[in-house]
Amino acid sequence: MEKLNGKKKLRVSVFISGRGTNLKSLINFSNMKNCPIKIVLVITNNKNAKGIYIAKKNKIKLSFINYKNKIKAEKKILVDLKKYNIDLICLAGFMKILSKKIVNFYNGKILNIHPSLLPKYKGLNTHKRVLKNKEKFTGCTVHLVNSKLDSGKIILQKKVRILRNDDKNSLSKRVLKIENLIYPKAIKKFITANL
Ligand code: GRF
Repeated sequence: MEKLNGKKKLRVSVFISGRGTNLKSLINFSNMKNCPIKIVLVITNNKNAKGIYIAKKNKIKLSFINYKNKIKAEKKILVDLKKYNIDLICLAGFMKILSKKIVNFYNGKILNIHPSLLPKYKGLNTHKRVLKNKEKFTGCTVHLVNSKLDSGKIILQKKVRILRNDDKNSLSKRVLKIENLIYPKAIKKFITANL
């Protein structure tokens, strides 16, 4: 942990594979007065991830992980996490599944955001499936990561109403806005409950 203004801040690594709107919202959160986290490292498996520009613009250290060999990739992740003294990992659109080794190593210290009301609609293409099933509501969930996909303890979730004319794009846009709102709130809640 890092002492700042006499208070302890958790050192956070955010893992991304794409556009990085959740990364951006976590950075904004971390820049707020008295925020309990400091984002010190962004990890990505995708050299073309748009989120990389967000990390660079905010002068956050960036580590690219080549996933051609998953075992080597995860070794490098663990080295990086140690090197930067990471207390908490926030997955934000990271499209790789972490093995038991990392999950066990950081047990209870890995959060993920998922665009559905878990435990419903785990996995990919949530909005498409939600629409196909004619659901009235969907939403998003921040949860702890365990060794089963999208199955760890739920920290926070928020409902989003599905509108009559919604398609995959309109729905994912609306849910994403809510994701960006709840991720920082979930972190606050998680830290308050665990300190
Ligand atoms: C989000 O919808 C998140 O729930 C999912 O991947 C997407 C990442 O979006 N896991 P962004 O890169 O944070 O904009």
